[in-house]
Amino acid sequence: MAINQFDLRNKELLSGIQGNILKPHGRHHTANLFISGIDGRQAEVKAWLQSLVEGEDAPIRSCYAQLRSNALWKDKKIDSGTFACIHISKSGYAYLFERADVCANKFEPTYVNGIKEADLNDPEFETWDAGMNDSAHFLLILADAKPERLTRQMTDVQNAIGGFAEVVAVQTGDAIFNKEGAGLEHFGYVDGISQPLFFEDEIDGYRIQNNISPTTPPEDFIFNPAAEIDLVLLKDPFAESENAMGSFLVFRKLEQNVKGFKKAEEDLAKKLGLTGDDAERAGAMLVGRFEDGTPVELSAEAGLINSAVLNNFDYDFKDESKCPYHAHIRKTNPRSDLVNSPIKEDAKKFIMARRGITYGKREADLSDRPTKDVGLLFMSYQKSIAHQFEVIQQRWANNEDFINRKPSNKVGLDLVIGQGERKPLGAYAQVWGQPDTKQPGFEQFVTMKGGGYFFAPSIEFLKNVNPII
Ligand code: HEM
Repeated sequence: MAINQFDLRNKELLSGIQGNILKPHGRHHTANLFISGIDGRQAEVKAWLQSLVEGEDAPIRSCYAQLRSNALWKDKKIDSGTFACIHISKSGYAYLFERADVCANKFEPTYVNGIKEADLNDPEFETWDAGMNDSAHFLLILADAKPERLTRQMTDVQNAIGGFAEVVAVQTGDAIFNKEGAGLEHFGYVDGISQPLFFEDEIDGYRIQNNISPTTPPEDFIFNPAAEIDLVLLKDPFAESENAMGSFLVFRKLEQNVKGFKKAEEDLAKKLGLTGDDAERAGAMLVGRFEDGTPVELSAEAGLINSAVLNNFDYDFKDESKCPYHAHIRKTNPRSDLVNSPIKEDAKKFIMARRGITYGKREADLSDRPTKDVGLLFMSYQKSIAHQFEVIQQRWANNEDFINRKPSNKVGLDLVIGQGERKPLGAYAQVWGQPDTKQPGFEQFVTMKGGGYFFAPSIEFLKNVNPII
């Protein structure tokens, strides 16, 4: 059941969870600080963690406080300042409680083993950015609408921890937008459209955006994004009370070769014989949406009304003549394609709350085409890294089989994020909706540069920082 944030019975629950998990913080600039404590200084690090949630103006906000400040912004344009949330790695817990195995049997093995041990076909660990390699103890995300205030906050944090902890890497993120104000990723496509929705007001917004009658229940939507909170939340094993909850965060710095991708997109259009406005469909068949967000399953061309928010669609599982089976959004969210799942809702249990932001500098009009130093800071919250992120990245995106799906034939990797051998397998319709296909290959233009698995602890844990072991 979606949550009503105005219902006071939900206040306690929402006050115990960090912000950003159930709803994005919404700020356009972030500083992602990878921090490690110095040996022997655990007591000061614990006191610092506690200070982050103490008092009215505590930098780390609960979900409830985040919703309250969202409402103040919406109604009165009152700016509530920098938003912060913190995440702890398995080495962070081991450091805090001075016990290497403190996480064993507390968290799922995937988190305890860490991203370095994950079978994701990622580049050699030595090539990852320093400090962003699963060894940092904490990831503190600071987010602000104003870049200069964010810089000040960053300095404040550095000063506050000086002596007992150090910032081992700083990665800034800055959102980019198209002319219509929709958030983009660097290849030029609107991103962040399809998300699990946890609140009643979000479901109401979805109805309006997708032209669904106000009386239609979510179960009757073509695609129902309504999600239960346990899709992303689990009991915080280091907090006492039953409803102290946290969430696993996957962080991946994904560099994008924009020049390479855009050139390959143009070449693909030529190979498929797509000309004029239809050439845009080549990219749409890689991503599953046109640049403006229009789903290629719904339309042969871009430009649908509300394109940047449309999400109420499903795939015809027998057919890839509109949206290819290998398209990024079809691989990563199968909707009704799943095999052995007579219930459409089953595909939803893999969905993550995506909270990524772009990084790197571009020309204001995005006319430049960098080959490096720009990309996506992919971030997702989930209840299980093994059963959500890793299923999507490893079993689906990195796999040439259309695994778990109908049909089960080989369709190639996800051509945006799939890592591994790229055989020319994916089929593309030369005419939208007609099943005659061609299968040119497509190279890889996204490179993993670093990452980690973290846990966003409950507010109760941060107030005490005492393990219940
Ligand atoms: C540089 C890397 C990436 C780029 C350029 C990219 C781009 C996009 C775009 C343009 C969309 C469509 C907008 C939307 O439906 O929200 C999308 C959706 C999505 N992406 Fe990515 N993405 C990247 C990385 C990833 C990774 C690493 C994952 C997970 C392993 C992922 C999972 C998803 C999912 C689940 C959706 C929503 C699909 C749906 O519900 O229809 N993406 N991405």
